[in-house]
Amino acid sequence: MGRIVALLNQKGGVGKTTVTVGLASAAAASGQRVLVVDLDPQASSTWILGHDPATVEVSTAEVLAKADADKAIVESTWSPLIDLLPASNRLQPHEHGKPKRLRNALERIADRYDAILIDCPPSLGNLTTSGLTAASLAIIVVEPSALGLRGIGAVADVIDEVWDAHNDSLELAGVIVNKVPAISGEADRRYDELTRIVGKKAIWQPVIPQRVIVNQASGERRSIHSYGARSADVTAAFDQLWKKLRRITRA
Ligand SMILES: Nc1ncnc2c1ncn2[C@@H]1O[C@H](COP(=O)(O)OP(=O)(O)OP(=O)(O)O)[C@@H](O)[C@H]1O
Ligand SMILES: [Mg+2]
Repeated sequence: MGRIVALLNQKGGVGKTTVTVGLASAAAASGQRVLVVDLDPQASSTWILGHDPATVEVSTAEVLAKADADKAIVESTWSPLIDLLPASNRLQPHEHGKPKRLRNALERIADRYDAILIDCPPSLGNLTTSGLTAASLAIIVVEPSALGLRGIGAVADVIDEVWDAHNDSLELAGVIVNKVPAISGEADRRYDELTRIVGKKAIWQPVIPQRVIVNQASGERRSIHSYGARSADVTAAFDQLWKKLRRITRA
């Protein structure tokens, strides 16, 4: 096992959703099957993957309240290789269900996928706890800015707490750095600071560059791979990160 991966950070806007769907896109491009689980009440990955959270019939909200994952899973509009367990407007930021429910639901269907990617909300509340309880790997997504690095210790603490209380097979797989500008002394300094905080080995390579096309892709609800040469450096980064994730999940 090692197939269920939670992508998290309490900080908003660092790219949890972008990295989740970018990895899904890379997986599909190399012929692997993935499930994206949307645990965020903002439902960004649901929307980007082609579904409207206002009309979703069965969602992560119902799965957390004990529905079968099977009843909620839909195909994304990107690829038949990318399925989605959508969020809906019913998903509450302060969910109170038992943390193990999502895990139980996902364990039953995990064999169908090469990986399950859980897009967590920007908080360290009960939804993120459910995501971490279901996962065998946690990946922290950060951006190289002062604000982007704040609170990373609190994220690591929550991973520890979930390990203690609910899930002793959870491992911190590493840190993915997103929105790295081409030239910036400030970003370089923050990258060095991150290296000091988490250690060089924990930072996955390559980092994901900051590019307008990434922002455009989410606005147009399209995969980064669908832009061909225009997004080549970003797709190459996601392809390599997916390769690494796949190596770990197969181990
Ligand atoms: N590498 C990048 N280059 C340019 N824009 C990016 C990049 N990564 C993300 N963005 C943009 O930044 C914004 C926030 O990204 P995203 O929604 O993935 O972050 P998030 O961490 O999931 O946010 P939230 O905490 O609200 O869930 C989006 O508009 C997205 O298109
Ligand atoms: Mg998000």
